[in-house]
Amino acid sequence: MIKVFQSWWKKEQKQTLPSLSKDNVPSHVAIIMDGNGRWANRRGLPRIVGHQNGMKAVKRAAIAADEIGIKFLTLYAFSTENWKRPKDEVDFLMRLPEEFLAIELEELIEKNVRIQMMGHPEELPKHTIAAMEEAMRRTKHNTGLVLNFALNYGSRREINDAFKEAAKGIAAGTLSPDDVTEEWIGAHLHSSELPDPDLLIRTSGELRLSNFMLWQLAYSELWFTDIYWPEFTKDHLFQAVAEFQRRTRRYGGLS
Ligand code: IPE
Ligand code: IPE
Ligand code: MG
Repeated sequence: MIKVFQSWWKKEQKQTLPSLSKDNVPSHVAIIMDGNGRWANRRGLPRIVGHQNGMKAVKRAAIAADEIGIKFLTLYAFSTENWKRPKDEVDFLMRLPEEFLAIELEELIEKNVRIQMMGHPEELPKHTIAAMEEAMRRTKHNTGLVLNFALNYGSRREINDAFKEAAKGIAAGTLSPDDVTEEWIGAHLHSSELPDPDLLIRTSGELRLSNFMLWQLAYSELWFTDIYWPEFTKDHLFQAVAEFQRRTRRYGGLS
């Protein structure tokens, strides 16, 4: 049985891998991981089972991204608006990083993955932030894939915070209005250490950004799929990257 699976898997890999060009791999891929609840509902299961299975898709996406040669993978895990959900669901979601890291951290360390996060950590439960901090500390010297979790992240708030910082600096006389360039703004966002995403993926059929990286996605290629996040596999990432490689990015110029 295992042999049958292995030969099928090898065949699958042969079918999908060669279609990607090594020269044009997106450096930064960002994913809005959506549809966990609907995936569960469709099976008559509670929403949290969808989140649990979504966690397995996170692992698949990270391993596949690493394999393809993607350098930065940002995953939208919890938005500043997701606090509006029932407390039970929020509590469950806040336990997931610990659970994910307890199971996967050692393998991610072996794969040289560096874990980071963006968002507002000070509002997260202590146990959630403790798990994230430990993972960031233990992987901070790793030089492979940067796996960046957007956790309690909201783009308007991030931009608003940068505005406030500029206003304070100008009021204090430490910053001139001319200093507030696009570079300055980029450097004062949570993603300041990362390049802008080359490719944005959203699952679940929704065609919106839901307050995700509004500044940074200005010239990203967008790829939407109807599948729900728990169904996301390496193949979907390949499909998205293959589509990315067929696109011409013009940035307003001519190709
Ligand atoms: C994405 O799945 C996970 C989070 C937003 C935390 P959802 O929970 O939004 O699932 P749907 O969109 O309700 O199906
Ligand atoms: C976006 O999904 C947030 C995350 C994936 C973490 P939502 O499910 O919260 O987005 P809306 O409410 O459908 O726009
Ligand atoms: Mg959703």
